[in-house]
Amino acid sequence: MVKKTHSKSIKTSPRILVTGGAGYIGSITSKKLQEAGFEVVILDNLERGNREVIDLLQTPFLEVDLRDYASLRAKLAGEKIDAVIHFAAYALAGESMEKPHLYFENNILGTLNLLRVMEEQGIKKLVFSSSCAIYGTPQQLPVDESAPENPESVYAETKRIGEKLIQWYCRTRGFQALALRYFNASGALLDGSMGQFQDPFSHIIPRAIMAALQGEKFTIFGDDYPTPDGTCIRDYIHVEDLAQAHRAGLEKLLRSTKPFFDYYNLGVGKGYSNKEIVAMIREVSGLDFSVEIGPRRPGDPAIIYGDNQKACRELNWEPRYSLREIVASAYRWHREHPRGYSSSLLPKQ
Ligand SMILES: NC(=O)c1ccc[n+]([C@@H]2O[C@H](COP(=O)([O-])OP(=O)(O)OC[C@H]3O[C@@H](n4cnc5c(N)ncnc54)[C@H](O)[C@@H]3O)[C@@H](O)[C@H]2O)c1
Repeated sequence: MVKKTHSKSIKTSPRILVTGGAGYIGSITSKKLQEAGFEVVILDNLERGNREVIDLLQTPFLEVDLRDYASLRAKLAGEKIDAVIHFAAYALAGESMEKPHLYFENNILGTLNLLRVMEEQGIKKLVFSSSCAIYGTPQQLPVDESAPENPESVYAETKRIGEKLIQWYCRTRGFQALALRYFNASGALLDGSMGQFQDPFSHIIPRAIMAALQGEKFTIFGDDYPTPDGTCIRDYIHVEDLAQAHRAGLEKLLRSTKPFFDYYNLGVGKGYSNKEIVAMIREVSGLDFSVEIGPRRPGDPAIIYGDNQKACRELNWEPRYSLREIVASAYRWHREHPRGYSSSLLPKQ
């Protein structure tokens, strides 16, 4: 299958392995890559992903756990992959503090097995899902890539170690790799067909939208932070903007011939408080749900938003979607899919 690509992109159809492609960001990025003419092969163990997206995307699927080196090796044999995007991980900071072993094992052993099999099979181009969490509480805002790394959770530490492992593979084994440090991934595909589903949700936008839709009270964790309205401030980036950045990163990798490692912040460069998020959800949905203030959640920095200039400059990328578009797309998705992908499989009433 060779599709047309945009003017600056690669002429043939590169074959991209997407680990964690049945999850939220991986599935939407896979869809956007397909639309741009890439061939996508999804690898996932489906532990936290959705089988339905595999049917939706009609893409080759390797069901395997990255912690299982022998099966991974066997599954990837003969796949002829040009580059890998490595999304697969456990991704909840709170859970990682309760179950550190699980996070170190899955996120680090999984990455190490992937690197080992990639090397054996001559695949040396990799985009890694990293996180702004590796900065911890930033000393300066907006936080740029020169800021010190100071993980404040096991999850964040696994991302920092993941970056280091990959960096060493670039130095010693000739890999070419990019780490993309996302801020808060949010929103759904603008056409309403794909979005986030977790049970229970951990991020504020889906949690608040679900509370609004179900007529339940929504809890904000703390309003005594040193911010203008007392609630935490975060940088929210639309998942379609993230997908575009992965495409730009892949194109950079596919053009490059020499080993290198680099890392980029992917955010919009502006922060919104929890109260501003709630106000936007009320405005977009027209629903006036009740909100209570609960205690602070351990490990939440007061403010973090990113400087995205390096990614804009070097990846020739810029985020396009506003907070309103993020919330509107997420609201549409959750209203139409209250039980995630399985909702679309339910008979219409
Ligand atoms: N969501 C965010 O705001 C955010 C922010 C920064 C970084 N990230 C990173 O982006 C990536 C994707 O996040 P997401 O929100 O889409 O998460 P997700 O949980 O929706 O997707 C992760 C996918 O990886 C799969 N997976 C996990 N461990 C696996 C293993 N051992 N073998 C095979 N598959 C496995 C899961 O089944 C799931 O489908 C993660 O690496 C996460 O750390 C996410």
